[in-house]
Amino acid sequence: MLEDLKDKVVLITGSSGGIGEIIAKRFSSLGSKVVITGRNSENVAKVAEECAALSPLKYEPLTVICDLNSERDIERLVHETICHFKRLDVLVNCVAYYEPLSILDDRFLENFDAHMKLNVRAVVQLCRLAIPHLSECKGPIDTPKFETFEDSESLREHYSSKTPVQRMGNRDDIANAVTYLASNASGFITGCLIPIDGGISLLG
Ligand SMILES: NC(=O)c1ccc[n+]([C@@H]2O[C@H](COP(=O)([O-])OP(=O)(O)OC[C@H]3O[C@@H](n4cnc5c(N)ncnc54)[C@H](OP(=O)(O)O)[C@@H]3O)[C@@H](O)[C@H]2O)c1
Repeated sequence: MLEDLKDKVVLITGSSGGIGEIIAKRFSSLGSKVVITGRNSENVAKVAEECAALSPLKYEPLTVICDLNSERDIERLVHETICHFKRLDVLVNCVAYYEPLSILDDRFLENFDAHMKLNVRAVVQLCRLAIPHLSECKGPIDTPKFETFEDSESLREHYSSKTPVQRMGNRDDIANAVTYLASNASGFITGCLIPIDGGISLLG
């Protein structure tokens, strides 16, 4: 089922440790080409070496040392990825700042800004830079029922053009998500909504 991840270029932020490291290793073992990134160069190098060892195709990860609090570093991260691999298929945003503080704490607003900068602004900036390169995604669903509509062709064109990913979905898009959710691969996911709509719901 995950065979199609072979050769995909995957940029995982926070991949030099924690959850991001394991995600990078999983993609590597599935034959993807990964970008390992974080601020600590030793950790980045160590995880990259371990990913290369796991890669069935012996792909060497790209390593980029960067601080996602810096706009310049974010731009460099995407730029180096595209220069090196000539494409980007998947972006996994896996970095977050987390320091719970009482609203009455003297440092509350400073802490609030730190959360917004890394957890929101950096993610939005990364998405803005990555989206032009992320070519393949999901879409509204083309089924045999569509053929029964008088204006099926114009509807198809309408939905394809309105969808951020510029195509309609198909039944396989749904079946892929359903089998994933039914498999052990999604063993820690429950009770959440996964829109399979090519991003059309994001348009409001
Ligand atoms: N752990 C949990 O229980 C838990 C629960 C729910 C959600 N999450 C979410 O899962 C994600 C990963 O969590 P985690 O526990 O694996 O975190 P973690 O162990 O702290 O790992 C963070 C990773 O992000 C990198 N990083 C941190 N700040 C960075 C920055 N400013 N610029 C670039 N890289 C940075 C770290 O490398 P450097 O330090 O070298 O930069 C490391 O590779 C986060 O989004 C977190 O909110 C975690």
